[in-house]
Amino acid sequence: MGWHFRRLAELEEGEKLNIPQREVFRTLLEFVKPYKLRVFLLAIVIFSGIFVNLVIPLVTKFIIDSIVDQDIPGLFTYSVVFLSVVLFNLLLSSSQTYLNSWLGQTLIYDIRNKMYWHLIRIKQKYFGGQETGKLVSRLTNDVDTIGNAFTSGLIDTLANLFQLFGAIFIMFSLSIELSIVVLSLIPLIILSSWYFARRARKAFRESRKKIAEVTSKIEQNVSGAKVVQAFSYRRQKNIESFSRINRENLEVNVQANKVISSIGPTMSIIRAMGIALIIWFGGILVGYGRLKLGTLVAFYGYVDMFFRPIMTITMFYNTLQSTLAAAERVTDFLRWEVEEDKGELNEVKGLGEIEYRNVVFGYEENVPVIKDVSFRVSPGEKVAIVGPTGSGKTTLVNLLLRFYDPWSGEILLDGIDIRKYRLRVLRRTIAFVPQEPILFNGTVYENMILSSENVSKEEVLKLLDFLDLRDLIESLPEGLDTKILEGGKNISMGQRQVISFIRALISNPRILVLDEATSSLDLYTEEKLQKALEKMSKGRTMITIAHRLQTIINSDRIIVIHNGKIVEEGKHSELLKKKGLYAKLYESQFATVQHK
Ligand SMILES: Nc1ncnc2c1ncn2[C@@H]1O[C@H](COP(=O)(O)OP(=O)(O)O)[C@@H](O)[C@H]1O
Ligand SMILES: [Mg+2]
Repeated sequence: MGWHFRRLAELEEGEKLNIPQREVFRTLLEFVKPYKLRVFLLAIVIFSGIFVNLVIPLVTKFIIDSIVDQDIPGLFTYSVVFLSVVLFNLLLSSSQTYLNSWLGQTLIYDIRNKMYWHLIRIKQKYFGGQETGKLVSRLTNDVDTIGNAFTSGLIDTLANLFQLFGAIFIMFSLSIELSIVVLSLIPLIILSSWYFARRARKAFRESRKKIAEVTSKIEQNVSGAKVVQAFSYRRQKNIESFSRINRENLEVNVQANKVISSIGPTMSIIRAMGIALIIWFGGILVGYGRLKLGTLVAFYGYVDMFFRPIMTITMFYNTLQSTLAAAERVTDFLRWEVEEDKGELNEVKGLGEIEYRNVVFGYEENVPVIKDVSFRVSPGEKVAIVGPTGSGKTTLVNLLLRFYDPWSGEILLDGIDIRKYRLRVLRRTIAFVPQEPILFNGTVYENMILSSENVSKEEVLKLLDFLDLRDLIESLPEGLDTKILEGGKNISMGQRQVISFIRALISNPRILVLDEATSSLDLYTEEKLQKALEKMSKGRTMITIAHRLQTIINSDRIIVIHNGKIVEEGKHSELLKKKGLYAKLYESQFATVQHK
């Protein structure tokens, strides 16, 4: 069983998740569990529907037999029964549709909510190793696939099986001879459904692949619109490759529809064959008086009842496969570890001393990026970390904020391992200004108060005044109330960085960490921010990662790292005298400044 189900889920090419199917089912069950009652109700509705479906041809039989036998009172009763059964059936099928879609939509809501909550807690490493598009697709497409499977009748497809057996049972009890004739068509139905299901699956897989290619091409062109428009050769190339992919997508879809459109006629032919058989053979039986006319008509009704289930069940195999694949990806996502927060300390007692002790860390197994780094920053000290690109500066900061944990060694805050503090406490104590300011949709003000909602606009303005940065924000059309578009594309880099700055400073943190925060600014803005920083840094511990060495000359201490190791340490003047890596870095920058 396990092996068989294992092969059901059809994952995309190159995808290896290896989630036991049992666990996928368990995850799905967990989501359905709160709605046990509804599912039970749905089951009742579905089974009543099946019962009614099975009864209708029987009622027809009794009506016709009453006509033939001239049974007038019986005719009236059966007509009333017929009408009520049909009405009841309508009621059942509309409640079934409603319950099905309610369940499907509710599951979409629940699964997506749960995934989102998970998303904002998972470890950083999962963001590094994933293609964003694929991750987003799990939260959107895969969830839809699962929900739609419920809406489009996962449950009644399974229930169809019962209808099939019910129909066969009734047919046999009405006429064994005629049943055997009709059943002889079953192999033909199964074979043809199977054939079409396979072709449809292939066609749809192709179609999914092509539409993914089209989407990715469009995405790249939207995000890179400027470059594409500015460089004409690339533009021409993009147009050509897009038309090619778009055409392939068209061809694949036409092919898929060709398969779909040939299913109906083929099935109609088989069905017509069945009906012809019944009329011919049944007619002869009626002629010989071995079958009542009503029974013959009832059989006509039952033929459909077993054609459709066999077809839908075979076809549903496709849906089942993609649903299980989606469920497997969702289950996998939900198994990603969340940030570890086992710390119990609710406050940082000291003045802000940081110590790295023999820290070793790498993003990928066996590839250390930080190799046995140790240093100490005293409370209130201003330390700069410099080094060539890729030497591991940002990684050091990632470790301090616990976006990642070291392989070995430890980082201490006021003498205590940072893992002992609650994450929230640690990150409130250490304010971080990243290399790239990340802005959210909302106003400038909203973007500044990420750490606490209890900061009024007046306080923000006071802080801006104190830091002499107010003019940079007031130059925006609506000042603090200016709406920020996606990622901040409607405001300048300097303004973005000011927002990122204020965001960090507003919670009055004890420790300030800046990762090349001013490197992409113009000299005027950088100088302003530099002065603001000096004001802000009084009485705080500060770690500055700097690209432009001009900005860190006055640091209390400069740590030079290269290839994940500390190679030099000291004051600017001392390091210059050493004529080592720092002196080389400094000279090369000085030279470029001279060139300008
Ligand atoms: N998320 C990541 N996954 C894998 N490797 C990474 C990741 N981030 C950085 N690295 C690698 O780690 C090394 C150090 O990177 P980083 O700390 O960002 O350097 P720096 O900030 O000094 O320029 C580089 O070789 C980089 O390629
Ligand atoms: Mg960096």
